[in-house]
Amino acid sequence: MKILTLETTCDETAAAVITGDFEVLASVVASQDKLHQRFHGVVPEIAARAHVERILPVIDEAIRNAGITLEELDAIAVANTPGLAGSLLVGLVAAKSLCVALDKPLVAVNHLHAHIYACKLASGQDVFPCIGMIVSGGHSNLYRCNAPSEFEYLGGTIDDAAGEAFDKVANMLGLPYPGGPAVSRAALTGDRKAYRFPRSFLNDDSKIAFSFSGLKTAVRYAITGGATSEFVRPDLTDQQVADLAASFEEAVVDCLVGKALLAVRKAGLSTLCVGGGVAANTRLRERLEAEAKKANIALHIAPFELCTDNAVMGAIAIERFRAGLTENLDLDLIPGLVRQ
Ligand code: KG4
Ligand code: ZN
Repeated sequence: MKILTLETTCDETAAAVITGDFEVLASVVASQDKLHQRFHGVVPEIAARAHVERILPVIDEAIRNAGITLEELDAIAVANTPGLAGSLLVGLVAAKSLCVALDKPLVAVNHLHAHIYACKLASGQDVFPCIGMIVSGGHSNLYRCNAPSEFEYLGGTIDDAAGEAFDKVANMLGLPYPGGPAVSRAALTGDRKAYRFPRSFLNDDSKIAFSFSGLKTAVRYAITGGATSEFVRPDLTDQQVADLAASFEEAVVDCLVGKALLAVRKAGLSTLCVGGGVAANTRLRERLEAEAKKANIALHIAPFELCTDNAVMGAIAIERFRAGLTENLDLDLIPGLVRQ
């Protein structure tokens, strides 16, 4: 069995060819980072247009690299939720067109479920039931994951996602987009205790929730020296940037680690899976590993190459296809399913 998976939920155009034994025959990711860099964030219109230009060459390359023909595919899978509407539309239309032209079944992928599935894929172990934490540019959510497509939302951010906070803070510090890797690099030489930034909800065990907008404001005030209506970055020394980056990163990591462990405890489970772009953060990985070990939790963090958006994690479609979960051609995109 061979399946083509497409991923265009945000700003990566990706396609992969995966076998029924979960062997990855090809994986192609066309990143749009350079197009969005000067805006310090993803511009939905630009993302959608870039997907239109890239989707067919990316599919062609994946099929060529896999050494197969389109006719040999058994199904086409596409991430149809959640994401940017214009971006989702491009992948969905491409997938449906292939299904019509080739007379193949269509399989829907939930992008957030796929981020967690990346952990199972990489470990080769059955990770379910587990607590799943998705930390990306658009989401910071905790789920009880009973099965690959059976997720129960436990809580998440009430404002910004963790990745979004990294991107905004990077911009304030004069660091490039995407902000996560840049802040993380700057933090290496910084003092994590130089600034005492807020950790919302961390001491409240009754809540599985995150809030990063107050933290963002605290970083802004630390940079400008107080509340100002307009943000003008003063000249910062490299050490100040490093200290701000390290203190900010530590505050985010404290919240993510604290609530992930709380969710595991509350659910009475012993497995934690972590995926999404922010899961590539070295400090977060270190801290999760140390805390999971102490608490006797089996921890699975997606490998670096499967943290940021890719089509390999769309292998979750193989489980759905086998369970008979195929879609009609009226399958729609659902941009904002934060809680699914
Ligand atoms: O999962 P992803 O590729 O796209 C979404 O679905 O949002 O995540 C992208 C996010 C960006 O906000 C980026 O800054 C963040 O992941 N990110 C990181 C790191 N690498 C990427 N955040 C912190 N540390 C990193 N090393
Ligand atoms: Zn993602």
